[in-house]
Amino acid sequence: MPPSPLGILVPLAEEAEALFALMKQDGATQTRRIGGRDYHSGHLFGRACVLTLSRVGKVAAATATAGLIHAYEVGAILNVGVAGGAAQTVKVGDIVVGEAMLQHDLDARPIFPRYEVPLTGMSSFAADTGIAAGLASAVEAFLAEDLPLLPAEIRGQFTLSAPSLHRGLIISGDQFVNGHAAVAALRRDLPEALAIEMESGAVAQVCHDYGVPCAVLRIISDSADDNAHVDFPAFLAKVASYYSHHILRRFLQQAQFLQQA
Ligand code: ADE
Repeated sequence: MPPSPLGILVPLAEEAEALFALMKQDGATQTRRIGGRDYHSGHLFGRACVLTLSRVGKVAAATATAGLIHAYEVGAILNVGVAGGAAQTVKVGDIVVGEAMLQHDLDARPIFPRYEVPLTGMSSFAADTGIAAGLASAVEAFLAEDLPLLPAEIRGQFTLSAPSLHRGLIISGDQFVNGHAAVAALRRDLPEALAIEMESGAVAQVCHDYGVPCAVLRIISDSADDNAHVDFPAFLAKVASYYSHHILRRFLQQAQFLQQA
């Protein structure tokens, strides 16, 4: 029996440019287009993986997650990308490993409580604890050993002084949050939220429905305030791709629970 591959779902190619390039270098990689998205199956650091460009937003992420489950029977799904910092303690360059994911724009009141996914009784979906722990240890090693090798001018450009790891709640919605009032309202309503993005709540819900373990890794690109859009493309190209490449290298090389390809 071939090993169940790991599904890796990335919203924008630039968030994991180095991983896409590595996958393409591997002559054995196969690309299938399903539902308007490309699924690249092959190996990354010795593990069977399907790397998928989901595109942005919850519907796109849900569609890509269902594609990974139906067409590839993945054993687990990892959602990797950037996010805005929600908590005041979460700074640009920090990394958040999700423990639970919630959709902050889901509101079917008064029929169902705010944030609850109708007819499930659930408002947040948990990450797989083993995968999240593996990601966290890969992040710790990355921060200690790989981050110092990122050129000083890039660290200076994005004021990455002493990035750190956070673990906890990630919130998703179909908005790019880039205003002081918007981020303040989210902080008030969801004080435990660490990071804001547009996909992982949907990925986690679909994975829950199918009983597929999932985990989320987000690199903080902005503080979701009035400056959120500034230098976003530069951050993706110069920082996010470096982070995702090296964190996943460490994660995939050490992961005990993934079957060796
Ligand atoms: N992804 C990265 N930054 C974000 C933000 N500020 N809002 C939503 N998604 C994001």
